[in-house]
Amino acid sequence: MPREITRVGVVGLGAMGAGIAQLCVEARVETVGREVTLDLAERARDRIAHFLTRKVEKGTLEEAARDDAVGRLTLTTELAELAGCDLVIEAIVEELEPKRRLFAELEPVVGPDAVLATNTSALSVTEIGAATERPERVLGMHFFNPAPLMPLVEIVRAELTAEDAFETAYAFGTRLGKTPIRCHDTPGFVVNRVLIPLLNDCVRVLDEARVTPEDLDVGMKNGAGWPMGPCELIDLVGIDVHVHAAEALWEKLREPRMAAPPRLVAMANAGLLGRKTGRGFFQYDQR
Ligand code: CAA
Repeated sequence: MPREITRVGVVGLGAMGAGIAQLCVEARVETVGREVTLDLAERARDRIAHFLTRKVEKGTLEEAARDDAVGRLTLTTELAELAGCDLVIEAIVEELEPKRRLFAELEPVVGPDAVLATNTSALSVTEIGAATERPERVLGMHFFNPAPLMPLVEIVRAELTAEDAFETAYAFGTRLGKTPIRCHDTPGFVVNRVLIPLLNDCVRVLDEARVTPEDLDVGMKNGAGWPMGPCELIDLVGIDVHVHAAEALWEKLREPRMAAPPRLVAMANAGLLGRKTGRGFFQYDQR
């Protein structure tokens, strides 16, 4: 039986964490958002308030409901503030060691039955869970960018995940209005196992076919029905995030298509990270 969730913690309020926190408060769940500085946490709350205000302006949300939703988000820099959470979703930097450290620090803070989820896109959930005393309660809840708009959440079963924790996360995904799917902890899970090599191929085609990013995007939107072109999509996800995920898949699978194309690695090294830095394949106004 899924357990009842009344309070959720979200650790890391970058693009993904803020999107997940937005989903939680919109689903009327008390949410504690943790960032390393209060300034970063407040920026995330402003971003959430901005998107909810757009809904009010478009007539899909009442003003009072927006205020209530924003009011359900508590900001903190202290992990100890997550003590009363039934579920904590981690969305910090996409690197194994910081995630393992966080899970080890988080475990004694929360109650023995609290479910601990990682939003990792390509790291091993089992390796993250192995940093805890009770890996039965650790699993993956993998949202897609932008989390408030993309319907899917992958519920990832690690080697030692217990059934009740898994079904609790699945039911919570439904409560957030998402379409959850169940999968196992294999490299890239379901969608990224397919999407990452595909996006890598798209980047390699830029050079092979001597096509511009603009034309490649026009091609994939109009010839393959993609809602967004691959260059625009990688800019949205973040060049660094994509490179990290591709490297993680390459490490595990050793398939050449998984390896990040040199062009993307060079962009990441140059700080051209996509929308979040104002420049990737394309230029953006920063907000
Ligand atoms: N958070 C919250 N709300 C947002 C948002 C965000 N990041 N971005 C936009 N919105 C809101 C805005 O208020 C916007 O309305 P306004 O522009 O009027 O303010 C509203 O949503 C609608 O936005 P759009 O008009 O841009 O919506 P759209 O119909 O064009 O669809 C889309 C946008 C859903 C992103 C669509 O383009 C799409 O499906 N793109 C593909 C995205 C995709 O493939 N994502 C997966 C990436 S891979 C990944 O995430 C895996 C990983 O692990 C790295």
